[in-house]
Amino acid sequence: MIIARTIDALKTAIKDRRDNGDKIGFVPTMGALHAGHLSLVALAKKNADCVVVSIFVNPTQFAPHEDFDSYPRTEETDANKLESAGVDILFLPTEDVLYPNGKDSDIKAGSTAQGLETTFRPHFFDGVVNVVNRLFNAVTPDIAVFGEKDFQQLSVIREMIETQNRDIKIIGAPIARDEHGLALSSRNAYLSADELMIARQLNVIIHEAAKTGDMDAARDKILAAGFDTVDYIEKRWNRVLAAAWLGKTRLIDNVAI
Ligand code: PAF
Repeated sequence: MIIARTIDALKTAIKDRRDNGDKIGFVPTMGALHAGHLSLVALAKKNADCVVVSIFVNPTQFAPHEDFDSYPRTEETDANKLESAGVDILFLPTEDVLYPNGKDSDIKAGSTAQGLETTFRPHFFDGVVNVVNRLFNAVTPDIAVFGEKDFQQLSVIREMIETQNRDIKIIGAPIARDEHGLALSSRNAYLSADELMIARQLNVIIHEAAKTGDMDAARDKILAAGFDTVDYIEKRWNRVLAAAWLGKTRLIDNVAI
């Protein structure tokens, strides 16, 4: 696995593969990799000849009060996991590499960003499209894989690609869950043993809500299960999507109706 820390090194490594006629697949991540990320890598490998993964904890998608500083950073373990998963190129940019002229961006998230996450994290999707656009410019992938766990993010990225009329196929990967159905997330690492038991109720409740259609009852059940607040539980894109707080951890999940 080639490790590239600059855009020049990345472009050289990718050019070698392109000259070979290889199709480039890309999986952007913020690291702290778990089986969910590795399932995105596996999907990228199925759809491309050369797989590039980036690890970058993107400051522009965190508000000042959020967990940017404490977000888990496990670069060495992550690199080992990616090498074992057969990744070809690991891109590890610093802030200076991705934001050499400051963090402002002309690109803003489109209409799919309205509501849901944006009601509670207004900065979030503008930060995501800012960094993903920069990453796409650097990697120039043929395909890119995003997890369906962040379903609204997937929709925002698809909209960005359509608006830019860019030739990148966006592939959504099914949500990876633990044996109790809890959606895998790097932020699950924040949960205590007691919180983990409560967290595992979220998927059960939203599956039920997808059947009954009763979002108010589902909100009450999430709170009764032990969550502190429910940011939202709503139907959109023929799915039920929810975000709720458990102590200092914010969990999101969604299921198809
Ligand atoms: O889903 C994530 O991990 C991040 O939002 C992404 C797409 C890597 C952009 O920083």
